[in-house]
Amino acid sequence: MSEDLCTQFSTPAPADTHRTATGSLSIILLSRGGAYTAGLTELSDLATRLETAMVAAGKPVQQITPAYVDRAQPTLTEALEQCAHAQTIVILPVMVPDEPSLRRWLHKLIMRWRAARDTSHPAPHLVFGQPLPLQPGLTELLTRAVDEALRQPAVPEVMADESWEHDPKGWSLVPEHQHHVLWCVGPRCAAKGALQLWPTLTRAIRETPGLKNRIQPLQTGCQYPCNHGPLMIVYPDGVWYGPMDAETIAPVLTRHVQDGQVDEARHVHGPRCLQRS
Ligand code: FES
Repeated sequence: MSEDLCTQFSTPAPADTHRTATGSLSIILLSRGGAYTAGLTELSDLATRLETAMVAAGKPVQQITPAYVDRAQPTLTEALEQCAHAQTIVILPVMVPDEPSLRRWLHKLIMRWRAARDTSHPAPHLVFGQPLPLQPGLTELLTRAVDEALRQPAVPEVMADESWEHDPKGWSLVPEHQHHVLWCVGPRCAAKGALQLWPTLTRAIRETPGLKNRIQPLQTGCQYPCNHGPLMIVYPDGVWYGPMDAETIAPVLTRHVQDGQVDEARHVHGPRCLQRS
């Protein structure tokens, strides 16, 4: 197995299977977040099923927790914190694609977490599982899934509901707005608190008179200048701001949208003067 694919983050464990058989094993199921809460339930359910299967197989596990590299919580750092007292933590990616550049960055995040942790407890032995597509047995599993799918009824040609193409009606309406605010929830901005700040952004838009009905907020993946994250981009002006925090979101947006001025302190890229007709 290459170092890139499965990395150990502490002194390599001795060939000692008791290390993981004493009940001090924690597992983090790592995935990419989705925009909808159903995705969170799926990963939690998978964690529960895995725990049941491991216990039934006589492999005690302290806890199995989901974690997300973007767009959802808990983040990997939060999950590591939950598992911090385990003797061994296995991080198991259950996502496709599993990009090498993201993995390298996650390795750095883990090392940063370990360097900052409370040293009154021994450091857990940390290992990263192989990318999901390289897991032995996956093709056999998918072959069985195809067989199972072939036993399922076909997707109906017409849904029972007559209005299926326009249902619900709200999906046909464009909400009132003048600006799009792109809010990065890519992995690096998420690690810097972008997910926790999203409710602050939406509340600011909802509750600030000069912003209400003028901004359509939108979560995005990585926009690349991650070192400036949490990153916010305001269109149509194309002004990039960062790093944003709970105190600056409302004032920066009010200044931009209501007063037509760019906040110099948070300006990262784009025009510094706004044209207003
Ligand atoms: S993760 Fe936000 S800019 Fe890269």
